[in-house]
Amino acid sequence: MSSPTTRGEVLVEARRVVKAFPGIWEHLILDHVDFDVRAGEVHALLGENGAGKTVLANILSGFYTLSEGEIRVRGRPVKIKSPIDAIRYGIGMVHQEFTLVPSLTVAENIALSIRRRNIFSYPVKEVATRVRELSKRYGLRVDPDMLISHMSLGEQQRVEILKVLFWEPNVLILDEPTSVLTLEEANELFKILRRMADEGKGIVFITHRIEEIMRVADRVTVLRLGKKVGTLSVAEATREQLLCMMIGEFEPFRAERKPPRIGEPVLEIRDLYVYGDDGREAVRGVSFTTHAGEIFGIAGVAGNGQSELVEAITGLRKAVRGRIIILGQDATNKSPREVAEMGVRHIPEERRRVGVAEAMCVAENMMLRDYNVAPFSKRGVLDLRLIGEHSKALIERFKILAPDIWNTEVRILSGGNIQRLILARELWRAPKLVIAFHPTYGLDLKAVSHTHDLFMQLREKGSSILLVSEDLEEILTLSDRIGVMYDGRLVGVVESEKATTEVIGRMMAGM
Ligand SMILES: Nc1ncnc2c1ncn2[C@@H]1O[C@H](COP(=O)(O)OP(=O)(O)OP(=O)(O)O)[C@@H](O)[C@H]1O
Ligand SMILES: [Mg+2]
Repeated sequence: MSSPTTRGEVLVEARRVVKAFPGIWEHLILDHVDFDVRAGEVHALLGENGAGKTVLANILSGFYTLSEGEIRVRGRPVKIKSPIDAIRYGIGMVHQEFTLVPSLTVAENIALSIRRRNIFSYPVKEVATRVRELSKRYGLRVDPDMLISHMSLGEQQRVEILKVLFWEPNVLILDEPTSVLTLEEANELFKILRRMADEGKGIVFITHRIEEIMRVADRVTVLRLGKKVGTLSVAEATREQLLCMMIGEFEPFRAERKPPRIGEPVLEIRDLYVYGDDGREAVRGVSFTTHAGEIFGIAGVAGNGQSELVEAITGLRKAVRGRIIILGQDATNKSPREVAEMGVRHIPEERRRVGVAEAMCVAENMMLRDYNVAPFSKRGVLDLRLIGEHSKALIERFKILAPDIWNTEVRILSGGNIQRLILARELWRAPKLVIAFHPTYGLDLKAVSHTHDLFMQLREKGSSILLVSEDLEEILTLSDRIGVMYDGRLVGVVESEKATTEVIGRMMAGM
């Protein structure tokens, strides 16, 4: 599609780029930002939740237009008015939220995305051939005939990357690609990124993890509240320096764990069987019990039944056999509302689709759990003043960046700020049982630290927490006991003192 690049050539450049959302935000979302990507490099973009990383990426890839400033592609000023324009200029982006259709195969999904772009259509068979070619070239292991619903998140992400590589872009932008990946999957991704860079592409890599930047990036640009703080060569930067550029002074919370004060059983799972979307057993005979004052972690590679287990507990999916008991009451196959009424709060895996109502405002979203109970509702009448005050207090406490509570639709919030809103709504008063699916997904360092702190406080207050995460480090930091899921079964439960990365890692691999 475009001529070969030379190493070090500036492929795309943002000059003094301004993005304003007039009437919504008083400040500029991007305030005269300079940024460039060169052939052969991985350029990381770092910054707190709401810093403007995704907006900048969306401008470069045609999803947003800029308010002021200039974009140059290989030295030439251009106007990128749409994602199709961006593709034409050799720029492709992999978004954080996946958009694959679960009931279709890889090749069908890619063919569909080509059709949707409306440039030309492509027979599925040819797509499959090309997928094989591309996956060989970049070491992206993907079977074009596999159904998406059979794939782990890591595999699905490879499909999303292939979907963009199809257009042979010179510049590939990835928005927080590692947040849902296991360590191994992330390592594999880094190799692929490196390979693409070595081939002469420019890679933009958005992440919250400084460690990952040190490992894979050549340069890093730090944004803070819409302003560029600086661009550094990673070889010359230190972790402390990057941390400081990102958030200024910061004392991380060290999850200091007092010995648990284990109380009564809260969640009892007895010989549970649950089907997956494909009609096969996803959860196969799982049994365990969590207690008040305890964090029970569930580790496992994505796609080993964790999602279906959580959905069954929270009423989103039917159990076909076995029992779910919450505080002594039968909670098997109850509706999500009935489960919530039993004192269960849920931080879901899919924050945009399940966690919020995107078209509703911040205050409405904040009240999804509590609008129909006193003191917010009395004899069926909502106390809007109280609801407003409550929402504002939570926004402050959880440091959510939102311009207004009544007029702001949640869809415009940054990913990390949506996650904060869900945490605030579900955890503001210590629930009896918390079902948390990678709760720190997409949060910046400071917010991760605050969230871990909050989990420890809830545990002290006697909440029972079921923590499901692919982030082994997080599981090891927080959990009192850790269960490992493999192939639909709970293959073992380990006390925290005996749990090391090696022990759990081996169990996760089915050994
Ligand atoms: N369509 C929009 N309308 C109004 N404001 C928006 C829109 N899109 C983004 N914003 C705002 O722009 C700011 C920057 O958002 P952006 O998504 O770029 O943050 P981010 O750096 O990617 O953060 P995160 O780490 O949470 O993903 C946020 O305050 C966000 O609410
Ligand atoms: Mg973002």
